[in-house]
Amino acid sequence: MIIRQMKPEDWHQMMNLWQSTEGIGVGRSDTKEGLERFLNRNKGMSFVCEIDGNIVATIMCGHDGRRDFIYHLAVAENFRLQGIGKRLVEKALQELKNQGIHKCHIFVMKNNEKGKIFWSKMGFQKRDDIEVFSIDI
Ligand SMILES: CC(C)(COP(=O)(O)OP(=O)(O)OC[C@H]1O[C@@H](n2cnc3c(N)ncnc32)[C@H](O)[C@@H]1OP(=O)(O)O)[C@@H](O)C(=O)NCCC(=O)NCCS
Repeated sequence: MIIRQMKPEDWHQMMNLWQSTEGIGVGRSDTKEGLERFLNRNKGMSFVCEIDGNIVATIMCGHDGRRDFIYHLAVAENFRLQGIGKRLVEKALQELKNQGIHKCHIFVMKNNEKGKIFWSKMGFQKRDDIEVFSIDI
């Protein structure tokens, strides 16, 4: 098993994983060009886990100089509960720390109970003082 930096060429395999993973919202930004733009803006902070040459887990991590967001943390079903998700999150958080970022947010779908348990285990705290507003542009 290796954990390495995410590359634009990983897009196809990752899309297959994301599209078959509950709790992951695939949207308009998830084109190959979108991925390339994200990785260029946030160098060295997104990772994949590979087993036998196949991508079995992903994490995308990016910040605006002040706050960080984690996107698309996904571990393929057969490889869950083996500490892979935890390792990916720890790696991303360490990289953020190296870059001087002190706070990281994550959007979790309201019905993603397993995801909520995972983030709590990872030390993330559910915010009751904030609601998310969004606009399509
Ligand atoms: C959430 C997810 C990434 C967790 O990945 P994982 O590799 O199975 O998690 P880990 O094995 O690293 O588990 C880390 C900790 O969380 C706990 N945990 C993880 N999934 C859990 C579950 N479904 N129920 C209870 N505890 C869980 C583990 O027991 C472990 O706890 P420990 O440190 O006390 O031993 C994975 O289930 C997944 O891909 N889910 C679908 C996509 C998703 O919801 N992503 C998050 C979007 S916000």
